[in-house]
Amino acid sequence: MPMTLKSSRQIELLREAGSLVRATFELLREHIRPGITTAELDAIAEEFICSHGAEPVYKGYVPAGRRGWAKIPPFPGTICASVNDVICHGIPNKKDRLRQGDIIGVDIGLRLNGWIGDACETFPVGEVDDATQHLLTTAHRCLELGIAQAQLGNTLGDIGAAIQRHAEAEGFSVVREYTGHGLGRNLHEEPTVLHYGDPGTGRKLIEGMVFTIEPMINAGKADTRLDRDGWTVRTADGKRSAQFEHTLAITTEGTLLLTE
Ligand code: MF3
Ligand code: CO
Repeated sequence: MPMTLKSSRQIELLREAGSLVRATFELLREHIRPGITTAELDAIAEEFICSHGAEPVYKGYVPAGRRGWAKIPPFPGTICASVNDVICHGIPNKKDRLRQGDIIGVDIGLRLNGWIGDACETFPVGEVDDATQHLLTTAHRCLELGIAQAQLGNTLGDIGAAIQRHAEAEGFSVVREYTGHGLGRNLHEEPTVLHYGDPGTGRKLIEGMVFTIEPMINAGKADTRLDRDGWTVRTADGKRSAQFEHTLAITTEGTLLLTE
């Protein structure tokens, strides 16, 4: 998908979709406790999204590069539910029951009145150990530092560099294979937003750009492994991974968070 610049009216519609994503997180937050399954969380999210006149966008999604690979089914869930060593794209499952001390990344994408909202948050299940809390705090801070660089006149490389620098300073690593992306009427548009890189490189940020920043931060090495289901992405070393994502818009009045 090419990059399309959005008008202020279109950004307002994207913000409405983003607000519904946020409301879905607030609902799920109440349910994320030891004992609940990821399939139950998925059903709660789907019911809420549909009852607000929106539709899930991950459900039935086939990545552009994979169209025609008969073997990999479309994504089956409303949410991605990524527990512990799952980096992203975890499939909600009746057998996946949350336990005290786990972490779960919940990624939500929906379409409202034709426009997409997309965000991700990683939640602790009850109390987590100190190392896990450090991972969560760092991953969240990486997103904040990336957003702080998302200013008119800066480049995409400024965003990636800020994220990589902080993650590595804390002893963690940044996943390379999965990236942020432009969005609008489509879930995935240009540009591709890397969560690593060098300041001053890459595309310049201009008015009307709308994209996600969604760093995946690994406690151990950056390497990933894809499960045989064709979706679930895990850390190769089995250590934990955490992700936070916002959708944002670059405007002359500043950068707007659309999923807040
Ligand atoms: N936030 C992720 C992304 O936009 C989630 C995609 S899940 C999928 O890349 F099922 F749509 F692939
Ligand atoms: Co996304």
